[in-house]
Amino acid sequence: MSQSSKYEQGSVDPVTYRSALGNFVTGVTVVTTTLGGTPVGTTVSAFAALSLSPPLILVSLARKSETLAQIKRAGIFAVNVLSEGQREIAACFATSAGAGKFEGIEYENGQSGAPIIADVGASIECDLEDCFSGGDHEILVGLVRNATVEGDLAPLVYFRGNFSGLAGENAVV
Ligand SMILES: Cc1cc2nc3c(=O)[nH]c(=O)nc-3n(C[C@H](O)[C@H](O)[C@H](O)COP(=O)(O)O)c2cc1C
Repeated sequence: MSQSSKYEQGSVDPVTYRSALGNFVTGVTVVTTTLGGTPVGTTVSAFAALSLSPPLILVSLARKSETLAQIKRAGIFAVNVLSEGQREIAACFATSAGAGKFEGIEYENGQSGAPIIADVGASIECDLEDCFSGGDHEILVGLVRNATVEGDLAPLVYFRGNFSGLAGENAVV
């Protein structure tokens, strides 16, 4: 049995399902790795804390993601938690331009070698510890080896298909 046929199709209307998911507010990350000195990365909202001890996090990546394939080869990855001013970076890494996504992006290699983008709110570097099938996605579990925090930077927020800051674009203050 192929992994994608493990589950029945379900009965929810697909448009309503996507809309319901879009009503869940998330932060925005860029998940990166490097292979043979070439940096790759993709925009990811499906990021979550998994365990404090041992320190584990998870990300969910589409099977078709080029970054997923590279992470599985490299065995390491970094989660870059984007800050409010980085919506252009989020849009750039949501394309399929391979290593070209890093053109004009300021970054340095972290302890693991995975790219850490400048001015992110936080970065989390991991060893790839486990990989589980989840329909048309795969769930990657990372054992955290290193983390950095820039406490004074507000986060980038994603809600109903739009980027904003914590206060929202149309917030009344
Ligand atoms: C705000 C936002 C969040 C996203 N979250 C995810 C995600 O959690 N998992 C995923 O696989 N793709 C996600 N995507 C889509 C990928 O970024 C996109 O498919 C990208 O082109 C994949 O690039 P790659 O093939 O180079 O890895 C998201 C896109 C946006 C704009």
